[in-house]
Amino acid sequence: MLELRNITPEEFERWMRTESRAHGNRFNHDPEALRPHFDLARSIAVVEDGQIVGGSHSHLLEMSIPGGTSVVAGVSNVEVQPTHTRRGIMTQMMRYQIDGIHERGEPLAALFATESAIYGRFGYGVGSVHEQWSIDKAHNAYARRYDSPGRIVFIDPKDIGKELPDVMRRSTEGRPAVFQRAPHHWERDSRDPIHSGGGQGGAFYAAYVEDGRIDGYVNYRTQRPTVLVNELMAATREASAALWRFCFDLDLYERTEAVKRPVDDPMPWMLADPRRLQRSARDGLWVRVVDVRAALEQRGYAASDRLTLEVRDDFCDWNQGCFELEMSPEGASCRPVAGGADLAINVSALASAYLGSATFTTLMHAGLVDEVTAGAVQRADRAFAVPYKPWTPYNF
Ligand SMILES: CC(C)(COP(=O)(O)OP(=O)(O)OC[C@H]1O[C@@H](n2cnc3c(N)ncnc32)[C@H](O)[C@@H]1OP(=O)(O)O)[C@@H](O)C(=O)NCCC(=O)NCCS
Repeated sequence: MLELRNITPEEFERWMRTESRAHGNRFNHDPEALRPHFDLARSIAVVEDGQIVGGSHSHLLEMSIPGGTSVVAGVSNVEVQPTHTRRGIMTQMMRYQIDGIHERGEPLAALFATESAIYGRFGYGVGSVHEQWSIDKAHNAYARRYDSPGRIVFIDPKDIGKELPDVMRRSTEGRPAVFQRAPHHWERDSRDPIHSGGGQGGAFYAAYVEDGRIDGYVNYRTQRPTVLVNELMAATREASAALWRFCFDLDLYERTEAVKRPVDDPMPWMLADPRRLQRSARDGLWVRVVDVRAALEQRGYAASDRLTLEVRDDFCDWNQGCFELEMSPEGASCRPVAGGADLAINVSALASAYLGSATFTTLMHAGLVDEVTAGAVQRADRAFAVPYKPWTPYNF
């Protein structure tokens, strides 16, 4: 007999240990240090005969969405013990978790999937996409002459939590699907043991400064012959050009690689020989529209229009049906209606259109949107248009 419930404080370490084991990791954290970052009222344990056989948690977070921010349930630590998989335990847990998120009135849920085949069945869709890059030094010249008005300085890792959060905020302004790094994660990164180790390699923070203000930073590691860019944030185009140039020109290295770049990053457009930049894309954040009405009302829109969307949602029947959405750049209202849909969309595809990772047109051609009223898909694209593609540089 399975029981689904919150964990008790006494169970916290055991719950974390079983979670690590399910992911194939050995638990090597201080449970006391982790404990404050988990809200046990948002934890789930699946218990069988006194044993924890599965679990999950959701953090209460804020995420950028087109035109603003949203409360989001940041789902994490999803696991079922390898001794108990493929018996429907995760499915029961997802049901329990989404019902809780819905009851608390949180309109969106989001997670990072270990495998991309898992969460579509629960109504999650691809919310953001990112790219991985690699370019050789011999081919990383810019197309246009480049004179930097600023300078690059190193930041002591112990100061990153003070100097850089605001730069991250400014660099991601207007971009959907971003979580700002939590203060305790800045703190954790600043104390990363890599900073105190000796010898070759290491992790460094360098910032771009102009007029006494930090307009960008890069966190990179070195592993000869490669410079690995973990994170590069630029609030201005000068910062972007200067920081990439800095990484490209570092002596002793033959190649620059970067993880998790936005798909609309300006850097590839600056290169003289852009084909030399190897790019591969993959899903980043997965998003679940838990409350269609609330989610659509809180989003910003690029054009004024009125459309009725039929939402198909097998897992959350409260979302099933038609919603008349009145949109304008000033705000939106959404109400359930009996029928008269202009277009029909599955809730997981709606998550992608909602944040802007896919257009309604693309989703229609993929068979995920049905156009009922001629022209409705193009009108939806105009209203849902975003200036920046969703990007999730930081995993909560
Ligand atoms: C992923 C995991 C949570 C699945 O748990 P589970 O209890 O076996 O899942 P369920 O039995 O409820 O499976 C539900 C459906 O999802 C499918 N599924 C589950 N895990 C899958 C996977 N990794 N890849 C593809 N399909 C998967 C099942 O086949 C089943 O399909 P069906 O309904 O068509 O039969 C579990 O395997 C696990 O803990 N894995 C290691 C840690 C991990 O990856 N966690 C996810 C973190 S994001």
